[in-house]
Amino acid sequence: MKKTILLFICAMMLSAFTLTSCKKDDNKANNAADNNEGLIVIGFSQVGAESDWRIANTKSMRETFSEENGYRLLLKDAQQKQENQIQAINDFIAQKVDYIVFAPVTEEGWDDALKNAKSAGIPVIIVDRMIKTTDDSLYTCWVGSDFRNEGDVAVEWMETTFKDVADLKIVHLQGSLGSSAQIGRTEGLAAGVDRNSGWDVIYRATGDFTQVKGKEVMEYVLKQYSHIDVIYCENDNMAFGAIEALDAANKTYGVNGEVAIISFDATNAGLNETLSGKINYNVECNPLHGPRVEALIKQLENGVTPEKLAFVEEVAFDATTITKADIDARSY
Ligand code: AHR
Repeated sequence: MKKTILLFICAMMLSAFTLTSCKKDDNKANNAADNNEGLIVIGFSQVGAESDWRIANTKSMRETFSEENGYRLLLKDAQQKQENQIQAINDFIAQKVDYIVFAPVTEEGWDDALKNAKSAGIPVIIVDRMIKTTDDSLYTCWVGSDFRNEGDVAVEWMETTFKDVADLKIVHLQGSLGSSAQIGRTEGLAAGVDRNSGWDVIYRATGDFTQVKGKEVMEYVLKQYSHIDVIYCENDNMAFGAIEALDAANKTYGVNGEVAIISFDATNAGLNETLSGKINYNVECNPLHGPRVEALIKQLENGVTPEKLAFVEEVAFDATTITKADIDARSY
């Protein structure tokens, strides 16, 4: 009897051991970090594909984090939804990636997901836009644009160009509400309106950084207002949408037109519209973050602590001075 019980216990222990080993192997199969063949595994949560800028940014990340360069890139497109980004971050944690990189769709609401990454010991690099948090230890570092400065640069151009206009009627097409790009560019304009008593924002709405919504908003505005001096578009794609609406309404615009157009991004298509005089002023927002993020990862791999915040240097283009060579010299 004692012998049978002993044999039974041994059999149970053996099957428990086998089950545990199998489970470990299953986990291993789901674990990107264990299948990396020496590659550094990057989980990148991208905002979406809402604009030419975003597409150039995704291309830059894909080209940099290639297998030939020693990386495995797991890229998830959040389709401009924060819940998808939070899910992606948690999935990357479960996959035990080496680094999480993410371009936050909005500034607020990341602490819980980032606490999970911190507990798992995975460094988080924020790129492009910024987040609001009371605990800076939740991310390792950030690289991106100074969106408030971009807004200030556009407003300085308006102050010079319209210094003799007593009553300036402005239409403001905002980007995705709550994103750093929208907040900074909107703050720049708000400061300009505070400084210039003759400036009047007659209509403001979000076009979500897309051409379709930019066009929709402008179609509505053109039915409501006959006099507009400036359209302040928070990115190129909304400017393209506004141009479509202006064309359909037979309204002249640009350097020789009734309505001036200000845009942000300075993408290739945006600069061609600037060269042709359709966009009066275009403030650069540089999307080529792949090599910048890689430089940060290399520092971390070598045990160097990178600067917490790194701002990208950017320029602006005026339709009256831009040349074809300016556009040809750029890769996006
Ligand atoms: O965060 C950068 C902004 O996001 C760009 O201006 C815009 O085109 C993009 O969608």
